[in-house]
Amino acid sequence: MASPPKKILLVCLGNICRSPMAEGLLREMAKQRGLRIRTDSAGTGDSHIGQAPDPRAQTEMRRHGIRISDLRARQFTRADFERFDLLLAMDQHNLRDMQRLAPSPELAAKARLMLDWSSDRKGGDVPDPWYGGSEGFGPVHNMLREALETLLDELEHAG
Ligand code: 4NP
Repeated sequence: MASPPKKILLVCLGNICRSPMAEGLLREMAKQRGLRIRTDSAGTGDSHIGQAPDPRAQTEMRRHGIRISDLRARQFTRADFERFDLLLAMDQHNLRDMQRLAPSPELAAKARLMLDWSSDRKGGDVPDPWYGGSEGFGPVHNMLREALETLLDELEHAG
């Protein structure tokens, strides 16, 4: 049987809202379970390279005791298909943009939708909270946490 993914990349458009929130959650949740997982995040776009997560994302995560202020945005590259075992796109658009860069169909298959691990939103998009006020960040946190719990259950049981 194939060994379970241990290096996981979270991907959105800007790498300042959804994917750093997902990275912070995965980092913390894996640690609490004693699972050794290497995490990183990236954006398909180049508008926010080098920036810390959006203050609204940082505030939401701080409400849950998770600090993400150390993270810095970078752009997704085709080399990420080689570096990571699993590449989780926050929405369909991100997934298409990633797959366009895939060096081979085998490597393209490493890219999946984050909400494929959701119980009630399979195949759906994590909504982009950037354009609204701060109200979109709580729901994003909740759906990320729920999907990541399921993913971590899977990884744990895969040994
Ligand atoms: P993210 O949110 O993809 O969740 O980081 C966005 C951040 C910035 C922009 C769009 C979405 N933007 O258009 O600059």
